[in-house]
Amino acid sequence: MTATTTTATTTSVVPQFLAQYRKDAYVKGWADLWDRGGDYVDWDKGCPNPALEDTLLQQRSILGGPLTLDEQGRRHRKKALVPGCGSGLDVLLLASFGYDAYGLEYSHSAVQTCKAQETRSRARGEYSVRDEEVGGGSVTFMQGDFFDDEWLEGIGLGRGGYDVIYDHSFFCALDPSLRPQWGQRKAQLLAPTGRLICLEFPRHQDPSEMGPPYTALSEDYIEHLSRPGLKRVAYWRPERTHANGFDAQGVIQDRVSIWCW
Ligand SMILES: C[S@@+](CC[C@H](N)C(=O)[O-])C[C@H]1O[C@@H](n2cnc3c(N)ncnc32)[C@H](O)[C@@H]1O
Repeated sequence: MTATTTTATTTSVVPQFLAQYRKDAYVKGWADLWDRGGDYVDWDKGCPNPALEDTLLQQRSILGGPLTLDEQGRRHRKKALVPGCGSGLDVLLLASFGYDAYGLEYSHSAVQTCKAQETRSRARGEYSVRDEEVGGGSVTFMQGDFFDDEWLEGIGLGRGGYDVIYDHSFFCALDPSLRPQWGQRKAQLLAPTGRLICLEFPRHQDPSEMGPPYTALSEDYIEHLSRPGLKRVAYWRPERTHANGFDAQGVIQDRVSIWCW
């Protein structure tokens, strides 16, 4: 694969800013970026990645839809988690499809942004219910560190409670030394019949470029998700994605992968 990225990271203040925060302090760096706002939150595209919408519409045979029946035949909504949800738009999208959707952010300011975004979107009639028969799911924004359990206790959900987990720009946001922990944690949180959706980005960034985002090859996802035992059950090039998922030749380099036990 050739490294052809010229977009997104070249003028971003984020890598330089986060370089001041070493090792475990990196989450504080993200929180400080959010507290500054404006150009310091330059990754935010103001809309969910269209590849997620297409996945939810086109991959029902693998995802199984947002509703499930228990042994008594009662209908339940599946739970979808977005770790490092940023301004929360993917969470709103998942709820519009009928999932009870949870967004997790380390930054208090980001959580405030998510809540304000939800209020604004509802007032504008955005993210309305996709299918009246299915209805809309609930939206919950939580503050916490993906790697610890405090936020899980706060909502009364144990590990292994999420039917869908969506990862976009979270894997690449973490220092690469955290990737083994990232894989273990995804596996811990995923329900036995759950599905993990990864929007793999940025695959085409020159690995020598300063992150985040850190270059994320499909091989990296395989390495860190297969180690805890997850299997890749689907993998494709999305038809639509954010502009920074295209290389300099205008070819989409992002991929979507779906993982399960
Ligand atoms: C590059 S941003 C991506 C945000 C969003 N997923 C998007 O696509 O716009 C990464 C986000 O992860 C959050 N984050 C980083 N480390 C985290 C952690 N350990 N726990 C929870 N959130 C974290 C940051 O605050 C930041 O908002």
